[in-house]
Amino acid sequence: MRIAVIGTGYVGLVSGVCFSEIGNHVVCVDNDSSKVELLRNGEIPIYEPGLQELAQHNVAAGKLSFTTDIGEAVRNSEMIIIAVGTPSLPNGEANLSYIEQVAKEIGSVMDEYKIVVTKSTVPVGTNYKVKEWISELTDHPFDIVSIPEFLREGTAIKDTLFPDRVVIGVDNPKVIETLVNLHKSLTDHIVITDIRSSEMIKYASNAFLATKISFINEIANICEKVGADVTKVAEGMGYDKRIGPSFLQAGIGYGGSCFPKDTEALIQIAGNVDYEFKLLKSVVEVNKDQRFNVIHKLEDALGTLNGQRIGVWGLAFKPNTDDVRDAPAIDIISTLIKKGAYVQAYDPIAVDNFRNIFDAPEIEWSKSALEAAKDCDAICLLTEWSEFAVIELVELASVMKQSIMIDGRNVYGSEEIASSPFRYYSVGRPN
Ligand code: UGA
Repeated sequence: MRIAVIGTGYVGLVSGVCFSEIGNHVVCVDNDSSKVELLRNGEIPIYEPGLQELAQHNVAAGKLSFTTDIGEAVRNSEMIIIAVGTPSLPNGEANLSYIEQVAKEIGSVMDEYKIVVTKSTVPVGTNYKVKEWISELTDHPFDIVSIPEFLREGTAIKDTLFPDRVVIGVDNPKVIETLVNLHKSLTDHIVITDIRSSEMIKYASNAFLATKISFINEIANICEKVGADVTKVAEGMGYDKRIGPSFLQAGIGYGGSCFPKDTEALIQIAGNVDYEFKLLKSVVEVNKDQRFNVIHKLEDALGTLNGQRIGVWGLAFKPNTDDVRDAPAIDIISTLIKKGAYVQAYDPIAVDNFRNIFDAPEIEWSKSALEAAKDCDAICLLTEWSEFAVIELVELASVMKQSIMIDGRNVYGSEEIASSPFRYYSVGRPN
């Protein structure tokens, strides 16, 4: 197919590259000309393993191109995919202004029948607004389709080329065959449904995964008080096929650009129809509190934080990404500073992004994990980058002032810790 993808953020760029990889002609559109220039030069503005190589390969094969010209892209394509951002408004609702703008642009430039797909995460009913916005500006026929995206940062290409399922929400059954043909090489699990259900599947999936995380974090907090080990509890639960082993890793809570935004948005969606989503409200509250357990444990270990030097390992919201949006590290570091501590922070790739949203004179930015630990009273591990797991703990202790570690991601095993000099606090495990 000839496909135009509008928006070159995570979802748009990865989808565009992957659709070209499976044999389509894709043009990715963005109104940011410097971004388009970068992409044309074979560079990728986000950190995503394998994406640059795959993009370059498909550009060279003549299947992938980049432009700022939405009119030409729309007119030359059979299908238009909307993949622009839906950031949170202050009240938690999704901001649909980018979607509206793109829909109106599509309506004003289309010159024949088009299939318009929304991949951005949008509140239930938004696709029908897209239909109205386009209809206001064109008499040409078109169909709207909702195909939510389920990719994760760091494994985005695998998640897109080998998804667990593809969800297709339509209101005109005539387009089903075209859409199934486009996706059938990716998975046998294609769920065809109506548009509102498709929109809801995306929010319900993210809310459920967030619920699993907050659930296991609360179990971890109770484990700490009763002397049980949450990693064994999760293992024992996870073999039950009805529960499953994934997303039961206790830690400092979820962050990133999706779970925090989408859980708040679903609470709003429910609220708008006079339904209080009590369970999800608690999930969000538990998640907000969980990150501060790092601070409570530090205070338990050190008494006061005033004047103490604290090393922080990991700033990204999870490993293998430089994304720091809603990362627990932001709240943790700002609280440390408020309480009078000095911070030495290190992340393999996320320092620049972090400094763009949060910086302070009390923070020293380190070039390695050991440099961040030097002369510290305690070290806090906030992101489970693989390089932290292979740190020699005796050597680590030798550069620190006090051998205290708060491991927010349960990276180290009990034997390793027992043979080290560390006073060690993890999440939901006997120390
Ligand atoms: C998430 C979903 O997993 C994707 O399916 C979805 O497409 C995406 O949001 C989105 O809506 O765009 P992502 O935010 O990239 O993907 O990251 P995840 O790997 O899901 O991790 C989210 C957060 O949960 C991280 O902060 C991670 O540390 C935390 N987490 C995850 C845990 O604390 N424990 C776990 O067991 C799993």
